[in-house]
Amino acid sequence: MNRESTPIRSNEFIRFGITCDFHSRRLVVTLGVTKIRGFQNGGKMTPTLLTNTRNGRATHLPFGEKRDGPLFNQSILSVKQFSHDDLETIFQVADEMRMMVERVGSFDLLKGKVLAVLFYEPSTRTSSSFIAAIQRLGGSIIPINEVKYSSVAKGESLPDTIRTLEAYADVIVLRHPETGAAALAAKYARKPIINAGDGVGEHPTQALLDLFTILEERGSIDGATVTMLGDLKYGRTVHSLARLLSLYNVKLNYVAPELLRMPAELVAELDGRDVKQYQAESLDQVLGDTDVLYVTRVQKERFANLDEYEAVKGSYVITPETMSRAKPNMVLMHPLPRVGEISDQVDRDPRAAYFRQVEYGMYVRMALLAMVLGKA
Ligand code: CP
Repeated sequence: MNRESTPIRSNEFIRFGITCDFHSRRLVVTLGVTKIRGFQNGGKMTPTLLTNTRNGRATHLPFGEKRDGPLFNQSILSVKQFSHDDLETIFQVADEMRMMVERVGSFDLLKGKVLAVLFYEPSTRTSSSFIAAIQRLGGSIIPINEVKYSSVAKGESLPDTIRTLEAYADVIVLRHPETGAAALAAKYARKPIINAGDGVGEHPTQALLDLFTILEERGSIDGATVTMLGDLKYGRTVHSLARLLSLYNVKLNYVAPELLRMPAELVAELDGRDVKQYQAESLDQVLGDTDVLYVTRVQKERFANLDEYEAVKGSYVITPETMSRAKPNMVLMHPLPRVGEISDQVDRDPRAAYFRQVEYGMYVRMALLAMVLGKA
């Protein structure tokens, strides 16, 4: 509900009270007060202080050294390393990044810092959003998006590649097909490693942006019923997201073909933390109660037996008819890429949040880079 009489832009900050988010074309209300001062200097962004509160808790983006933050000089390897307070801080900084981008586009918070982007697997969003994130913060990149054109093709080991890149870069973002590769890299590295997906293991920065999306779209995470649909066995994004959601008061529904169910170890891990979990036989069973529907593609590249892939591919598709049976304020998410699980016809539905989710990813990755490099 807009308590202000004057119109405000998407996520525009206002001095007192309520921030309304028209970005999603639905009204999401968060309590907040934001102040920015001294941020114009000959067209360059040189803010001296930005404070932002979300639901009464303040954070500061001081635009100086900040070496006492929870992520300073830390690798980001797994969502298991985050506390509820860490998440709140990351989301507050991401909110601030969003406002800064909306107001000035880019600013030199990380000027002089270099990010190495080392991807052993294909990526559009994760690699591009990290590149956009460091560039919008005034830093630069070493892009190795195609390891077959690097010395990896000559047989160089991961530890040697990491030890080489850290000679040039301040932080390394790594995607690798093997579970545990990011942890291995971090063992050898003196600089922080950010896990951008390690096989069927984890994709922690995706889970952070997923959670940020839920927060931005709904206004809160607590109280949500989140239904995960699709390849819950090989989908690393759902593994990370389920773990992060376990820090909140949520209910998790799992809907997957028999072959692709959520791993029993992960279900047991969350059971141990008293998370409400329900294995549904079909989406119809849970759709009406769902606040967030998180759809994933079947991960063809993870199947040892392609006959099994053929047996399950196309077994679920979200269509306008599906949406007609969902809550009017349900949030429809997908980490993307999609390969048919959500019909293009759903894209115009205001509940379809997956392309906004992509954008939120850049703000979260800007926040992570700034925090890891001691600037927020
Ligand atoms: N969601 C995600 O990880 O997308 P990319 O594979 O394109 O990076």
